[in-house]
Amino acid sequence: MKNKKRIQLSYYSLCFIPVPVYLISTVDENGIYNIAPYGMVMPVSYNPLIISVGSDKNRDTYKNILQTNEFVLNVPSLELLRKVNRTADPIPSEQDEFVHADLTPIKSEIVQPPRIGECRAHLECETIWVKEVSEICENRVIITAKVVDLSLDEDIFIKDLCKQKGLMKSLYYEKHSYFSLGGYMGNRRMR
Ligand SMILES: Cc1cc2nc3c(=O)[nH]c(=O)nc-3n(C[C@H](O)[C@H](O)[C@H](O)COP(=O)(O)O)c2cc1C
Repeated sequence: MKNKKRIQLSYYSLCFIPVPVYLISTVDENGIYNIAPYGMVMPVSYNPLIISVGSDKNRDTYKNILQTNEFVLNVPSLELLRKVNRTADPIPSEQDEFVHADLTPIKSEIVQPPRIGECRAHLECETIWVKEVSEICENRVIITAKVVDLSLDEDIFIKDLCKQKGLMKSLYYEKHSYFSLGGYMGNRRMR
C-alpha cells in the first residue's frame, strides 16, 4: 500500500474517472434543433433502461427538455472531436446547432428530437422527472429518463464487446481534456 496524500477539493480532476461524452439532441417549442455535449450521464437501471443526466439550468438543452420531455443521447466517436467542441459553442438558441456544427439530423424512431447521423449509437429518451440538486447547488438539476428506443450503425452491431467498443471509439472527458477508452482488460469471472 502506498502513502496517501490529502489534496484540495479544487484538484478533483485528479481523483475522478473521466466521464463518457454524449451529444444530446433536443428540439424547442418552435422546432429549432439544439445539440450539446454532456458528460454527466449515468445509467441507473438496465431493466428497465433508465438514465440520469446532470445539467446546469441555463443550458438550452435543459430548457428544451422541460418543454418537450424528450431528448436523444448520441454517441460520438473520436473522429468527431472537433465537431463535439463546436456543439459546446455558446450560440443563440434561435440558431440550429446541426448547421453550426455541420452535423446531419436524421428522424428518430419514437421521439421528436432528431438523431445525429454522424454519431455511432443513439438512445431515444423520455423524461420521468427533473429535480434540483439542492439549495447549495441551485443551478444544477438531475434529469431522469426512460430509454424508449436504441439504434446504432450496422457495422458496430457486434456482440463481442471487446471488438465493439474498439470500433465505437467513444470519447471521455475530464477538465477540458479528452481521452479514449484504453481497451479490454478482463471480465467479471476473474479472481
Ligand atoms: C465534453 C463536454 C461535456 C459537458 N458535459 C456537461 C454536462 O454533463 N452538463 C452540463 O450542464 N454541461 C456540460 N457541458 C457544457 C455544455 O455542453 C455547454 O455549456 C453547451 O454550450 C450547452 O449548450 P446548450 O445551451 O445548447 O444546451 C459539457 C461540455 C463539454 C465540452
